[in-house]
Amino acid sequence: MQMKLLQKRIVKDGQIEAGNILKVDSFLNHQIDVSLLEEIGKEFHRQFAGQTVNKILTIEASGIAIACIAARYFQVPVVFAKKTRSLNIAGDVYTAKVESFTHKNTNDIIVSKKFLSPGDRILIVDDFLANGKAILGLAKLVEQAGATLVGAGVVIEKGFQDGGKRIREAGIDLHSLAIVEEMDTEHGIRFREETL
Ligand code: G4P
Ligand code: NA
Ligand code: NA
Repeated sequence: MQMKLLQKRIVKDGQIEAGNILKVDSFLNHQIDVSLLEEIGKEFHRQFAGQTVNKILTIEASGIAIACIAARYFQVPVVFAKKTRSLNIAGDVYTAKVESFTHKNTNDIIVSKKFLSPGDRILIVDDFLANGKAILGLAKLVEQAGATLVGAGVVIEKGFQDGGKRIREAGIDLHSLAIVEEMDTEHGIRFREETL
């Protein structure tokens, strides 16, 4: 289920940039509207109600603030995967490669083995879903740990890229709070229609 308040904010303050980039720097990715994040955290909690989650997993940097506020509602800790260009600092870590289409680079992401365990029930949270590489990389870390992936919560899914399809096809219970179906500077932003 999408979130009307968030959709309205995206329409009001989001900027469409070249390369299919939606800039939301004034409330999510640079300046942060903490009250909005509280509503987002509450909504993730509502959408995953009835499921046991004991840890929220995200990736630095933009995921961290979102995960931390969501964690207040789930009352669980947050673990964030670190990005690194080389694995030479890697000790006892779970690791996956994440290729970024947007940034045209590849990072290794790592989480210490201390912070993911077989008994864990993990909710992945992130700001954007484009090609899905970040979330699929995080899901690999969960799998390496032998933990259970409860689902993934995303603030903004770019529905015209294939990440959402990939993640749903991988059997991950994905909840996106806003799904941008189309955007261009002439017509603005159109969200995906949902059937109830
Ligand atoms: P993917 O994980 O879904 O494959 O996405 P992709 O590699 O294309 O995106 C890489 C980074 O760019 C991610 O941030 C993602 O949040 C961000 N991103 C993708 N599309 C958009 C967009 O339209 N608008 C904005 N504002 N961000 C977008 P990151 O590399 O994890 O960096 P950070 O910002 O979290 O530090
Ligand atoms: Na991100
Ligand atoms: Na980002």
